[in-house]
Amino acid sequence: MKVLIYQTQAAAADCVAGLLADRLAHQPDAVLGLATGGTMESVYDRLITRYNAGEMSMGKAQSFNLDEYVGLKPDHACSYWHYMREKLFNHVDMRPDFAFLPHGDVADATQEADRYEAAIAAAGDIDLQLLGLGANGHIGFNEPTSSLTSHTRIKTLTRSTREANARYFDAFDDVPRLAITMGIGTIMRSDEIVLLAYGEGKAEVAAKMIEGPISAACPASILQMHRKVTVVLDEAAASSL
Ligand code: GLP
Repeated sequence: MKVLIYQTQAAAADCVAGLLADRLAHQPDAVLGLATGGTMESVYDRLITRYNAGEMSMGKAQSFNLDEYVGLKPDHACSYWHYMREKLFNHVDMRPDFAFLPHGDVADATQEADRYEAAIAAAGDIDLQLLGLGANGHIGFNEPTSSLTSHTRIKTLTRSTREANARYFDAFDDVPRLAITMGIGTIMRSDEIVLLAYGEGKAEVAAKMIEGPISAACPASILQMHRKVTVVLDEAAASSL
């Protein structure tokens, strides 16, 4: 595990955007694993800037997002489909038919999870996976006690995760209780993983992730077992290391 610590959030975001742009420069048709959350917005801002400057194209890439809430239609303002269109896809040359997220509004979410897992495998698995870090150690929506070898499936969100994400919804009760998420095993099959975390609120969990022990109590700790993972932190998130 390579751990990079930057003085500021801006410098950490520059680093992650640079790693993704480098991958696309060397492998324009890369299969990208994309993430949502407040932290990733700073990375997507920088990718848009690079695209507008003619420095980067996503025109040949494919992308698979980590997760989606069960029950939300793609045009729901709090869906991750909506987030990705607003924060990235509408502003770069990513082909809409090459950008995938799980569908949360299907009749059978278990079947949808299986379909999504098979689609990732059929694409040859993820080349570069971006990850944020939940305050409870989740990656994607793999909450504590998730199987460390899991595939894409439905997960019940913890109260703390629903509280952390309630800021995007009108009311806490509107936050869905279930999500479809790539599994930890799915994520671990990626060729390369880059995780970004900011702020004091992530300091304790970043230390658990990096210093171990490896445990389903902190799902992100499994990343210690990946052969090519870069953890990018600002100084505040690194303050408990
Ligand atoms: C959500 C997403 C995660 C993300 C996490 C962190 O729970 N499902 O993939 O890592 O938020 O979000 P933030 O960056 O807003 O702290």
